[in-house]
This record gives sequence, C-alpha cells and structure tokens, in this order.
Amino acid sequence: MDRLRIRGGTPLLGSLYVGGAKNAALPLMAACLLSDEPLTLDNVPMLADIASLAALLRQHGATVDRGDGGRLRLHAPTISNTTAPYDLVRKMRASVLVLGPILARCGRAKISLPGGCAIGTRPIDLHLKGLELLGADIDLSEGYVTAVAKSGLRGAHIRFPMVSVGATENLLMAATLAAGETVLVNAAREPEIGDLAHCLVAMGAKIEGIGSDTLRIAGVARLHGAGHRVIPDRIEAGTYAMAAAATGGDVTLIGCRPENLETVADKLIEAGVEIRAVAGGMRVMRRNGPLEGIDVTTLPYPGFPTDLQAQMMALLATAKGASVITETIFENRYMHVPELARMGADIVVHGSTATVRGVERLTGAPVMATDLRASASLIVAGLVAEGETTVNRVYHLDRGYERLVEKLTGCGAVIVREAA
Ligand code: EPZ
Repeated sequence: MDRLRIRGGTPLLGSLYVGGAKNAALPLMAACLLSDEPLTLDNVPMLADIASLAALLRQHGATVDRGDGGRLRLHAPTISNTTAPYDLVRKMRASVLVLGPILARCGRAKISLPGGCAIGTRPIDLHLKGLELLGADIDLSEGYVTAVAKSGLRGAHIRFPMVSVGATENLLMAATLAAGETVLVNAAREPEIGDLAHCLVAMGAKIEGIGSDTLRIAGVARLHGAGHRVIPDRIEAGTYAMAAAATGGDVTLIGCRPENLETVADKLIEAGVEIRAVAGGMRVMRRNGPLEGIDVTTLPYPGFPTDLQAQMMALLATAKGASVITETIFENRYMHVPELARMGADIVVHGSTATVRGVERLTGAPVMATDLRASASLIVAGLVAEGETTVNRVYHLDRGYERLVEKLTGCGAVIVREAA
C-alpha cells in the first residue's frame, strides 16, 4: 500500500487545474444504461471510483472506453445482466445508482446491498421506497435487493422525508422512463444533480425544476444518445482552497465554478481568507496573520458540504481561538480527529459536534487515512505541520483526487508518494 511523505511549512503558491466532478461523473455513467445509444462524457477524472463503476457497467453489458483528454464513451445496446454482484458493489456505494436505470429499462434489477462504510451505515431505504411508489415490487434477501416492475414503472408523487443525493439521482433516472409524470419533492439540489438532469434532457428526458428541490419528470418511451461535459469538482476545489489557506499561500484554482462554492467561500472569508473570482476560476489567498476560529455546520446544498468538513477542521486546527463544527449528514464522520490529534491538534468530539481549539502549530507524524475526505484532511494538516508527515493507506485518496501529488508539487509543496 502506498503512502505519502509530506514536509510541511511551505506556502502553496501558483495555480492548479480542477478536474471533473467525481460525484457528477458517477451518476452520469450510470445514465448510459437508460438508452441503447452511446453516451459520450467529457472531463471525466481518472479515479479509482470511476474505474470501479466502469467495471460494474461492463458486467451489465455496457462498453466503457477511455478516449483522449478525459473522454469516456459508454454504450449499453442491451443489458445482458441485471444483477450487480456483492464483490463489485461493496467496493463503492455509488454502485447502487445502477438500480434505477436497470429497473426502468429492463423491468427488473438485482443489486447487492452496499453495506456500510467508514462514515456510517448509509442505508438505501429512501431509494427503495421511491421505487415502490413508482410501481416496483421490492424484495430483500441474502444481502440483495430485487426490484421488479413487470408492467414498467408508473409516474408518482414522491416526497423525500430527508434530503438524499443518491436517492434523488436514482429516482430521477428511473422516472425518465416511467409512464406519466413523477414529482420529486424535497429533492437534493447539489450541482451534481443539476448536471445529471441536464445530461438526461440532452438524452431526450423531460425534466422541469432543475436546480430546485422539486423536480417534475414527464416519462418518455426511450432516451437517445448524447454528449455531455462533466462539471468541475467543487469538493476537489474546496480541498485545495483550504490547503492554500492553511499554508498561508496564494493559489488560483483554474476551472472551478465559484457559484458552486458560495457557502464554502463565505466560511473561508469569515475565517480570514481572501477569495477572489478570477477569469475561469477562483483565487485563494491568506491575509497576513493567523486565521480566526469560526463555527461550521454541514448541511445539504447549498449549505456547507459534509465532504469538506474534515478539510475545514484541519484548516481551523491552527486558527486563533475556538471553532465548533457540527456534522449533520453522517453519523460517524470524525475518523480524522484522532489522527489530527496525533499531530498536536486540540479537538474534542461530543456526538455530532467537534470543538477545535486552535494551536500554535501542528507537528508532523505518521498518520492513517480512513476514508476519502479524512485522507484529504490529513494532507492539509501535513502541509502545515512542522517536520514530516507520512499518510498511510493512500488508496483512499485515489478514489477522489486525480494527480494530487503533481498538483500540489506544482504549487511548491514538498510531497512524494512512495511504496510502503
Ligand atoms: C453522496 O452520497 C456523495 N457521494 C457523498 O460523497 C456525499 O457525502 C453525500 O452525497 C452527501 O452530500 C456521491 O455522490 C457518489 P446521501 P450519498 O444519500 O448519495 C442517509 C465523497 O466523499 N440516507 O445524500 O450516499 C445517509 O445514510 C462521498 O465523495 C438514508 O438514511 O449521500 C446519510 O446519512 C462521501 N437513506 C444521509 O442520508 C437513504 O436511502 C445523506 O446521504 C439514503 C441516504
């Protein structure tokens, strides 16, 4: 297993390109199953999660081929296998996103239950309840969910009791081929869902309310092929913004969309970071002197994203004064806390709230990555800490950050990847 070796204390200076959004590319790839015509996606990042989903799609009968410059060509002329097996699904929860498309296209689908992961149990009850409302019979046995809709799916009025990105995506895709109108109320509003909806419309779907919490979908008989460019990754951009701010640097994030990071920018500015929208991206600078402690609560979009909570904590670990972080989305998303504490951070967790008391400095140490965003948090801390930090189990990072070492060294970071 590889590890990263970081020597902290160097301000990040320069610019880096923000890649395509992992959490947009994954549902977009699943959407290829809705049509018998080819779907071409551009700006798809080269990530482990993308490769995992490509492998799953291939065993359903799709071809998935890489072209130049982030292009992915997907084509599912037929779906030869409607079962998503445990050994593939367990690797990545987003595999559950093939459920809606396969059921809508074939009238049946059998998907291994994803199981939990480091940040929580992460059930799929909202996905299944929504599919039942669309007319599917759902059966759970031996770790698999089987969904059957012999006479096809029928439009329905679905109100989500809580906001769920994945459930919104699964049901949005299924509804495009359901007979009649479907209304999704209290739908998630993450930009990645808007990106998926725009691609589905390009494929011939009829969707209204894109970007709002109420989506109206008029089902159509079939969807045709399309081409679509994946939006930039706001979480990658936010991660590097926090690294730049933490190190007292000045970095331009090329290609990111500031409008998708407004709440994050507001919080960084509140902490004392200078943020400027520039042509084609965003410039992040740390004004002189320490940052100020602030309070952060994670919420569904447009609130502060849970996927940036760990990175923000690393940034606030050396701010002046105390910060209170409240995680409202996942029940166990503080796995990075003990590792940050090994580096000298002063953090106390009570339930879903973490109190971070700023310290003068962090010191480098060997630390362990536990999940994708916790790993990013340890890198932000390592870039600030005095001395050397080694981050083990770097495979977590490969799931969501393309060419991270190259991008950071391009801004002056002292970081190398080595086989452990
Ligand atoms: C998506 O996960 C993202 N993943 C996550 O990013 C992100 O943290 C999350 O949305 C929240 O923004 C992808 O897009 C591939 P949810 P998802 O359904 O869809 C509960 C990363 O680091 N819930 O919005 O799984 C669930 O347990 C990853 O890139 C139910 O109870 O998130 C969680 O507590 C991590 N029942 C909360 O809702 C359900 O049926 C939000 O989950 C579904 C979800």
